Amino acid sequence: MMKDISLIGFMGCGKSSVGKELSALLPECSLIDLDTYIEERQGSGIPEIFNEYGEAAFRRMEREALEEIFSDTGRPHAVISLGGGTVTSERCRQLIRKHTVCFYLRATTETLLDNLEGHSAGRPMLATGDGILTEREALRQRIETLMATRSEQYLETAHHIIDIDGQTFAQTAAIVKALL
Ligand code: S3P
Repeated sequence: MMKDISLIGFMGCGKSSVGKELSALLPECSLIDLDTYIEERQGSGIPEIFNEYGEAAFRRMEREALEEIFSDTGRPHAVISLGGGTVTSERCRQLIRKHTVCFYLRATTETLLDNLEGHSAGRPMLATGDGILTEREALRQRIETLMATRSEQYLETAHHIIDIDGQTFAQTAAIVKALL
């Protein structure tokens, strides 16, 4: 059986957009965006879920969503865009490696900053108690802090690493397709 395809990487690396491009290149594949999947299940948005239940509960929802997706044997083959923090759970890392061919869309901090600056709203992991970080240097510190633990987790989970700096979503999707 052909494995599903998953996209991992930090917030702002383009997982959702590349997922859309890739599923258009692979007509037999459906597209699952894990954040959207959870939002639909919960009937509320990611910021509301974090506010109401906290990060640990959201991580449990990610794990349960993945278990549900991978145990559904009747569904079509899928491109799955994961959340930036899905790999922080060891169980999720195992599930992703076992059930998918996993691509890490790796970006430099500068690329992430360019993509995230002005787009922090709706991303609770980029917020502080003082509100949403908008200032570039504060955002840089937040990215670096999260990356200090996550970069290894992305590398450990991925079967393929793609450096996406300077590439369009369509170019990245074409590289993923060529590596399948
Ligand atoms: C998160 C990334 C988000 C979303 C949630 C938490 C993270 O997904 O799952 O806000 O911990 O990095 P994107 O990477 O699609 O923004």
